[in-house]
Amino acid sequence: MRQKILQLLRDNSSGYFSGEEMARMLGVSRTAIWKNIQSLLLDGYHIESSPRLGYRLVRVPDLLYPAEILKGLKTKIIASGPELIYHFLQVDSTNTSLKKLADQGAADGTVVIAEEQTAGRGRLGRSWFSPAGKSITLSILLRPSLAPGNTPLFTLMTAAAIVRGIKNILPDISVGIKWPNDLMINKRKVSGILTELKAEADLLHYLIIGIGININSEEKDFPPELRNIATSLFLENNKTKISRQQLLCEILQELDDAYRRYFLENPAFIIKEWKKFDITLGRKITVKTIKDTFIGTAVDLAADGSLILEEVGGKKRQFQAGEVTLV
Ligand code: BTN
Repeated sequence: MRQKILQLLRDNSSGYFSGEEMARMLGVSRTAIWKNIQSLLLDGYHIESSPRLGYRLVRVPDLLYPAEILKGLKTKIIASGPELIYHFLQVDSTNTSLKKLADQGAADGTVVIAEEQTAGRGRLGRSWFSPAGKSITLSILLRPSLAPGNTPLFTLMTAAAIVRGIKNILPDISVGIKWPNDLMINKRKVSGILTELKAEADLLHYLIIGIGININSEEKDFPPELRNIATSLFLENNKTKISRQQLLCEILQELDDAYRRYFLENPAFIIKEWKKFDITLGRKITVKTIKDTFIGTAVDLAADGSLILEEVGGKKRQFQAGEVTLV
C-alpha cells in the first residue's frame, strides 16, 4: 500500500492528490491512506498535507530503502527483486548479517544494506568506520559454482564495478584501484572491499562481498587517525553532495553486468577491466604479508588475480593477499 501511495504521489509530483481520490483509486478507506502517510513521514518522506487539497510529495529521503533502490535498477541477479534486498537502519556488520541469511539459504544476489554499522569489519582484522547515513555499507551474496581458488577474481571484479559506478555519476573524478581492492583518490582511500567465503576444499558454498564507500562524509566525520588517509566522494567533488541512492544503483547495475558476463566469457576479462583503473602496476611498492614485508616493483597480475612483484635483482614473487603501500 505504501508503495502504491508513493507511486501516485510521484506521478502527481507537481500538485496535491486528495486523500479521498487516492482511497477510491486504491480501493481502501481514507483512514488507511492517512495511516500509510504517517508511516511514510516517520521514514523521512517529506509529504505536505492540506485539509482541503490532500497530499503532496515534496522530498524523498536519501535513505537506501529497497523501494527507492528498485526504482533505479534493471539487474537480473543482484538485488533483482524486493525479496533480495534487506535494509537496516543499524546492524553490527552487513557481512555478518548476510552470513546468517546465507546459512539459512538466502538466494544468489541477496544484498544487505545498512545506514549504519556498529562493528563494521575491514581486511586483515581491522575495523571499518562509517558514519550513519553518509556512506554506503552493503554486502552481496553470490553463489557461483566454482572452486574456492577463483574467488579473488570476484573481489577484483567488484572493485572495477565500483569505479565504473562512481564514474557514471562523476566522470571527472580520478579514482583508481590499489591492489587488490582499495579505491583511492589523491592517495587517500575512499572505498574498501571485504570478501568472505564459506567453502570446502574444492567447493565454494557462497561468497559474501562487503563494500564500504565514503560518500558524503566531511572531514570532521572521520576520526583524527583517519583524516590523512581516508577521503569521501563529497570531499573530492568540490564538497558537493552525492545521491547515495543513485550511486548504489549504478554500482549494483555494473556488478550485475560483470557477474553475468563472468558466466559467458573467459574470466580474463576481469583482469583486463581491473587494469583499466589500476594505480599499482609499474610502481615501486611494499607488500606486507602476515610473515614479512617485501619491496620491489609491481609488474603484473597473474591469471588468478595475484600480484607479481619483482625485487631488486630480478627475483619475482607472487602474492595472493597482502597490504600494498605505494612508495
Ligand atoms: C577494507 O578495505 O579493509 C575493507 C572494508 C570493507 C567494509 C565493508 S562495509 C560493508 C561490509 N560490512 C563489513 O563489516 N565490512 C564490509
